[in-house]
Amino acid sequence: MTGKKTFTMIKPLAFKQGYTGKILDRILEEGYLIVALKMYFLCKREAKAFYEVHKERPFYDELTDYMASGPIVAAILQKDNAVSDYRKLIGATNPKDAAPGTIRDLYGTDLSRNAVHGSDSDENALIECRFFFSELEEMTG
Ligand code: RTP
Ligand code: MG
Repeated sequence: MTGKKTFTMIKPLAFKQGYTGKILDRILEEGYLIVALKMYFLCKREAKAFYEVHKERPFYDELTDYMASGPIVAAILQKDNAVSDYRKLIGATNPKDAAPGTIRDLYGTDLSRNAVHGSDSDENALIECRFFFSELEEMTG
């Protein structure tokens, strides 16, 4: 299913502020199928493993502290061209630069505590889906 799936997380602050329902609603309105869904509280070690690609970056510690600061909601989304369309739907990494009406514009606060994660390539989408979900947990058909 390469090209048809992406992985997203509603990050701790957006979850804490009660935006989960609105964000999932928006995702469905935009034509994605939610094929797997779970709430999860990452520990620091798990947050570091998920964002390992950024381990040399100066923001790695702050980012992983944030991701381990409260529950998140993880989901696998299915739609044609899912990865790039979803990146457009969430908007720029910094909510201040996110286009009006995008999820990070509507529900973000600042760069280090933006509202959602979205996979940046088909290859990473597969890795990230499997980080959170087994094949058994994913709806097919
Ligand atoms: P994400 O992985 O969470 O979907 O975000 P992204 O692809 O848009 O951005 P990425 O470069 O992968 O960065 C991951 C998260 O790290 C935080 N960040 N802080 N202080 C900084 O300069 C900085 N740069 C990035 C952001 O919260 C970003 O979502
Ligand atoms: Mg990224």
